[in-house]
Amino acid sequence: MSDDAQQQIETKLAGLRETFLPRFASAENEIVLREENAKLLGKKGELTAILRDMGKVPGPARKAIGERVNNLKVEAEAAFELRLKTIQKEARDADLNGVPFDLTLPGRMPFGKGHKHPINQIREEVVAIFRSLGFGVHEGREIELEENNFARLGFPPDHPATDMQDSFWTTSGHLLRTHTSNIQVRAMMSQKPPMAFIAPGAVYRRDDDATHSPMFHQLEAFLVDENVSMAHLRGILSEFAGRLFGAGTPVRLRPSYFPFVEPGAEVDIGCTFCKKSDGTRAGCSLCKHTGWIEVLGCGMIHPVVFEQCGIDPEQWTGFALGMGLERLAMLRYGVPHMRLFFENDPRFLAQF
Ligand code: DAH
Repeated sequence: MSDDAQQQIETKLAGLRETFLPRFASAENEIVLREENAKLLGKKGELTAILRDMGKVPGPARKAIGERVNNLKVEAEAAFELRLKTIQKEARDADLNGVPFDLTLPGRMPFGKGHKHPINQIREEVVAIFRSLGFGVHEGREIELEENNFARLGFPPDHPATDMQDSFWTTSGHLLRTHTSNIQVRAMMSQKPPMAFIAPGAVYRRDDDATHSPMFHQLEAFLVDENVSMAHLRGILSEFAGRLFGAGTPVRLRPSYFPFVEPGAEVDIGCTFCKKSDGTRAGCSLCKHTGWIEVLGCGMIHPVVFEQCGIDPEQWTGFALGMGLERLAMLRYGVPHMRLFFENDPRFLAQF
């Protein structure tokens, strides 16, 4: 029986010795080669099975046969490694010498396209509304002279907004504009009335909480002509609110103070969150149960501003208004925290 076992092993060894090289040699790629290797040397491989059967070989012969089995194993492993290197080199050469990869081909994977950021969406909507009403668009400057940001707009030198703590100053004494109202000054100093412009853009303040961010976006609108009255301003505001928040959205003006307008007002619209089907407001936490939400500041351009910009306040009148785009977007989409607009979390942005 044990002699038989020895005989059987000898026969198998001889068979494997003859076949493993041609088997490796004929494997045309790495996958096939690895399969062949597993059949021979893997856990369930032929040579592994032989090793397992060694126990059946009688003691004296075991050592000699064991050595032969091990030698074969070492030989097979070396042959496998050699063939593997050859195959990998051939594959790499074929890749390098093959037809070059065409980077200009359109992708085959259906990737979702990106879309505009919600702040850009709301800005484009507001710009489109004012353009259709005849307003041109002024591009702004973000680094501004102190005079254009404050003094020419009627801020007294000691106004709290001009405080070093509230604005970002450059080492050269300029500042990052704190509002888009600077564009009124630049427009009026560079061209003659009549004029009607909007100016969207980024503004900067030292502020950071749930409803404030150090950088945010505003949109300024102003119109200068002869005999402009508060009624014109009121008409533009109603039209604007109706188009952005839905036809018939109520608008109210509350007296307020800004140095560059007189009279000045804050504008509320009927709360967009608790509006009932009959048009009345139920009152909710967002409008603090008043049914009204503040959206912007406005007023009649102050004669001092005209004078500072070389325009005769006896001949010309005008109105101005300024709004925060993040605030509009928060109202429009029910977004609770301003920071969400700047974190660029795709899970948030994908909702718009
Ligand atoms: N510049 C003001 C601010 O940043 C907003 C503003 C208020 C603009 C009244 C105006 C205006 O044009 O008339 O808070």
